[in-house]
Amino acid sequence: MREKLENIRKEVETLLQQSDVNLEELRIRYLGKKGELTSVLRGMGALSAEERPIVGQLANDVRFFIENAIAVKAEEQKKEQMKMKFMKEKLDVTAPGNAVKVGKRHPLAKVEMEMWDIFLGMGFDIIEGPEVEYDYYNFQALNIPENHPARDTQDTFYITNNILLRSQTSPVQVRAMEKQKPPIRVISPGRVYRSDAVDATHSPMFHQLEGLVVDKGITMGDLKGTLELFAQKMFGPETKIRFRPHHFPFTEPSAEVDVSCFVCGGKGCRVCKGEGWIEILGAGMVHPYVLSNCGIDPEVYSGFAFGMGIERITMCKYGMDDMRLLYENDVRFLNQF
Ligand code: PHE
Repeated sequence: MREKLENIRKEVETLLQQSDVNLEELRIRYLGKKGELTSVLRGMGALSAEERPIVGQLANDVRFFIENAIAVKAEEQKKEQMKMKFMKEKLDVTAPGNAVKVGKRHPLAKVEMEMWDIFLGMGFDIIEGPEVEYDYYNFQALNIPENHPARDTQDTFYITNNILLRSQTSPVQVRAMEKQKPPIRVISPGRVYRSDAVDATHSPMFHQLEGLVVDKGITMGDLKGTLELFAQKMFGPETKIRFRPHHFPFTEPSAEVDVSCFVCGGKGCRVCKGEGWIEILGAGMVHPYVLSNCGIDPEVYSGFAFGMGIERITMCKYGMDDMRLLYENDVRFLNQF
């Protein structure tokens, strides 16, 4: 029996020399309920009274030896595993890094924010209006009654007979004047919709920026000064503006406004198509009917309004010849701005 115990000790010693020995299996095999040491102890009953305490002591020593050896080995294995883990996870701080791709603002958003800055600098507030609008605000209050031919050029998407997707940002003029008494000095950017087929210069959805100023004594001179400063900030300090007579039902007089070509300075080039001038917006003095529709007395107050296409200004500024590029979201295109 002593010999058996000695053998067990030696076996365990040998087994523990393997570095990857499974310690749990080993523990069960020798110390478990049906383990080898236990079975030796079970046989103790057959020993004589003198031998029993001696063998018992030896068995305890062997148990203690195995327990201790397993604990030591477990510690060793743990250290080894940590070492391997550190080796594997070693970070080479001199290795070249992975560049993080950071997105950019879309050119339309960039230009729109430039516009905000310019007008905020002149004391304008920014307001918003709904894209789903009443016929009343989009047309009627703007002096475009039913059957007015101006409706044809802005044929839009109707939701019901009197609710539609706004075809211009001008309805926000009416909403602003209903809400706020003069002095009013606001811009209103946003999406507008027209039932146009997509081509290089048209899209059923695009963006406009509306401007409105109403106060006592506002004149066309104020409109000119405001737009001139805007054009110079947007396209460069040498930029000139030109007013051409036009017609909008909600302004009187009305004008289309051109800027001198910022590429050729007015001589004529590819960007201005040889004209020397580029049309950028519509504007005029707020029609007295529109003021009255909003409860503002045209005998006391006057105002000007303008509206420009943000796509158009963006395309001019960057010399783009196809509007579709702005909506395709091709990063090779967008990365250029
Ligand atoms: N709403 C007009 C358009 O979409 C532009 C405009 C705005 C003209 C304000 C005059 C005054 O064409």
